[in-house]
Amino acid sequence: MTGQLAIIGGTGAMGRGLAVRLARSGVEVVIGSRDAARGAAKAEELSADLAPDAPVITGTDNASAARAPIVVLAVPFESLEDNLDAIAASAGGAVVVSMVNPLGFDATGPHPISVPAGSVAEHIAARIPTARVVSAFNTVASPVLNAVDEPVDEDILVAGDDAEAVETVIALANRLEGARGVAVGALRLSSVLESLTPVLIGVNKRYRTHAGVRFSRLEIR
Ligand SMILES: NC(=O)c1ccc[n+]([C@@H]2O[C@H](COP(=O)([O-])OP(=O)(O)OC[C@H]3O[C@@H](n4cnc5c(N)ncnc54)[C@H](OP(=O)(O)O)[C@@H]3O)[C@@H](O)[C@H]2O)c1
Repeated sequence: MTGQLAIIGGTGAMGRGLAVRLARSGVEVVIGSRDAARGAAKAEELSADLAPDAPVITGTDNASAARAPIVVLAVPFESLEDNLDAIAASAGGAVVVSMVNPLGFDATGPHPISVPAGSVAEHIAARIPTARVVSAFNTVASPVLNAVDEPVDEDILVAGDDAEAVETVIALANRLEGARGVAVGALRLSSVLESLTPVLIGVNKRYRTHAGVRFSRLEIR
């Protein structure tokens, strides 16, 4: 089963809003899961949120889903390796989009976890060298994505080394109502995007909201 875009771990908190918003914009989305039946059941559930003329959301196992030309990784950091094992063979030629944030919690609250490769995205790029890896969606909270009838009203920060892949993901981000894809620079800057979440959690806890990032004075023509 090949769609235009696969969401690996699409059964989870981030998958729902992303899948529904993209399908509503005309993208054929495949939900990937470790369990094909769970992927298919989630896809059926999410398709109920779509108009009859939208492309249907389908679901399958992660390896099959990852044959799509764009593969979004939406799995927990702790399970990254197992999930990369599952998709490495099929995602070799894909634009792989990582939203994975290496995050730990201790008595003081959330904190970034250091990744030997520099960032999760660089780790993925080393692990699947033929993939064109891009970071995006790291700073969007799932309740914002999942409020599918509300505009996202945030910038989606996109980091990557492959200019064409970055433009592809910016165009994808721009499909989400009220969102704006913004290129921030090279893939190595992913470590900055991946470590912003503890800051956002701090803000959201203090002010009881789901704040995201919006650059001021940035006009994109
Ligand atoms: N939640 C947020 O607000 C947010 C915001 C920005 C970025 N992120 C990042 O986006 C990624 C996905 O976040 P999420 O909140 O959507 O994650 P999640 O709901 O906890 O998990 C997403 C999916 O990952 C799959 N998965 C694969 N291996 C797993 C394992 N060993 N244990 C548990 N689940 C496993 C599960 O799908 P199957 O069981 O069907 O395989 C699960 O439904 C994370 O890396 C996170 O850092 C999250």
